[in-house]
Amino acid sequence: MKYLVTGGAGFIGSNYVFYLLDSKEIDVVCLDNLTYAGNLSTLKDVMDHPRFKFVKGDITDREFINKLFEDEKFDVVVNFAAESHVDRSIDNPAIFLETNVMGTQILLDAALKHDIKRYHQVSTDEVYGDLPLDRPDLFFTEDTPLRTSSPYSSSKAGSDLLVQSYYKTYGLPITISRCSNNYGPYQFPEKLIPLIISRALADEKLPIYGTGENVRDWLYVTDHCKAIQLIIENGTVGDVYNIGGHNEFSNLDVVKIILERLHKPESLITYVSDRKGHDMRYAIDPEKIHRELGWLPETPFAEGINLTIDWYLNNKEWWEEILSGEYQNYYEKMYGQE
Ligand code: NAD
Ligand code: DAU
Repeated sequence: MKYLVTGGAGFIGSNYVFYLLDSKEIDVVCLDNLTYAGNLSTLKDVMDHPRFKFVKGDITDREFINKLFEDEKFDVVVNFAAESHVDRSIDNPAIFLETNVMGTQILLDAALKHDIKRYHQVSTDEVYGDLPLDRPDLFFTEDTPLRTSSPYSSSKAGSDLLVQSYYKTYGLPITISRCSNNYGPYQFPEKLIPLIISRALADEKLPIYGTGENVRDWLYVTDHCKAIQLIIENGTVGDVYNIGGHNEFSNLDVVKIILERLHKPESLITYVSDRKGHDMRYAIDPEKIHRELGWLPETPFAEGINLTIDWYLNNKEWWEEILSGEYQNYYEKMYGQE
């Protein structure tokens, strides 16, 4: 079997590549155009792996994608490639539509033309909008209507709908997974958990949007990767699967857990202006993937957050290089006024 993994130089895509190479006899071609979020050094340990090949390229380049599919004859496509940061989508929505919607459509066309056995779309719980804090009994199911808040989540919902239309109209064998917030090694330090770890280690102020009461449902990245693979191997073609582990924490609680573990003071916490359209609570009901595919998260948060903190402590060169580059301009623009 040969898989195309798009966005494999990013956070979840790279962890998925490692998982496939470690535990499956699958040839992996990783396609990534190395945006600010893609990092070739993440893949350095697998570059010479006999079942791995890296290709630099853009999923929005139709000609290039067609040629790649013609040359490589993939069996399976797993699309992680996306613009993924909500704050950046609020600042500049256009690139989110180009990559997340148009890029997906170009991959779908190529998958159809080249008789791909499975096209899997990596999507997000953000397509369901948010839930109120005072209704802890409510969860997102696969039947929850799409009700997006940000240009990012709208672009992800748009791509999900396109993927479903290629199943219904053309019979393309697709599956879609919608996962909650991931954390773990190789996450770009603009996202909450690595942002807090890297800034706390430098005794820098920790920006918390609004009141810090917003709730996210955290899942260790390898558990997400395993769920995706189960869906590709045993899931029902045409279906959506939610992935999440009933692991809800407020942002403030997550930050306090990290500070305690790093022996840093809570006085570093700084409340800043709220994110525009900030979703209050995400919470996945993972009953379908558990019932149909036997998936359950394997990494409790206490263990996953320790693994993650240890990884950031032991791999400072990876994130220090990122923080010293273009990211500095982004941080200044995003948080400079606070
Ligand atoms: P990321 O930003 O870390 O990585 C995205 C990768 O895609 C980068 O390597 C980037 O270079 C690449 N890319 C971007 N545009 C491209 C293009 N036009 N052509 C080729 N490659 C391109 O993102 P992530 O957090 O790893 O998320 C991966 C996927 O999972 C996304 O589709 C995201 O919507 C989804 N998702 C993320 C989370 C999360 O918590 N991070 C949760 C659920 C779903
Ligand atoms: O739910 C899945 C989604 O999770 C994915 O689809 C997205 O790609 C991924 O980025 C993530 O989105 P969030 O917006 O939930 O993640 P982020 O790490 O940006 O923010 C997590 C929470 O922390 C959110 O409530 C906003 C808050 N936050 C974030 C940053 C960067 C802060 O309070 N301060 C910050 O500086």
